[in-house]
Amino acid sequence: MELVSATTQPAQLQAPAIEADNPQIPVRPLTSADASAFRSLRLESLEKDGRFFKKPDDDETRFTLAQWQERAKETPDQCWFGMFAHNDMVGIARIYKTADDTAEGGSLYVIPDQRQHGVADQFVHAALDWLKPKTEIKFLEFHAREDNMPSRHLCEVHLKGEKIETVDATYGDGSSGPAFLYRIPVEHLRHG
Ligand SMILES: CC(C)(COP(=O)(O)OP(=O)(O)OC[C@H]1O[C@@H](n2cnc3c(N)ncnc32)[C@H](O)[C@@H]1OP(=O)(O)O)[C@@H](O)C(=O)NCCC(=O)NCCS
Repeated sequence: MELVSATTQPAQLQAPAIEADNPQIPVRPLTSADASAFRSLRLESLEKDGRFFKKPDDDETRFTLAQWQERAKETPDQCWFGMFAHNDMVGIARIYKTADDTAEGGSLYVIPDQRQHGVADQFVHAALDWLKPKTEIKFLEFHAREDNMPSRHLCEVHLKGEKIETVDATYGDGSSGPAFLYRIPVEHLRHG
């Protein structure tokens, strides 16, 4: 999620606390073959939980299937992931480079009846694995709206992310309010 009007605060970084993987919730990079389910989940996320996401630059409801196929393709700088349960896509999220040494996780969405089963946590593992060979990337960042407690819990408790900024943000449902930018150093994971 890209946000606006940042106010910088001092950063004190800690090592992440990463829990064990859950093999019952497979997570993998999307491909163009996932376009149809990808479209459904992404549009559902904007419709149901737009208050937690930046308003998209484009009207994604008008994208063609070919555009979703193109969007699903991994590149060196970004990757959309799908999380699965019994072969159904139950979550999506994206990781993308925002600077030479930084990547951001965003667009994280888990369908309501699959929440609180560790689906988002599985994405976090996948994101860290994706970063490991990209040795130029030193930091993983996430934005979380101030009142989004599940998202903040992931950042603060699971990842021990340090709040480095508070930003005044506008969201997909037209509302506005503060969000926190969390930063997690990932360098040590390559040597763990
Ligand atoms: C945020 C979201 C992705 C979390 O997905 P999830 O699969 O339910 O998360 P997990 O099950 O992996 O839970 C991760 C942690 O968050 C905690 N958590 C989940 N829901 C919570 C809630 N409603 N309140 C407090 N903590 C919560 C879990 O307990 C877990 O911590 P624990 O292992 O220490 O108990 C999901 O709630 C969602 O899609 N929300 C709407 C969209 C959104 O807010 N996206 C993030 C935008 S930044």
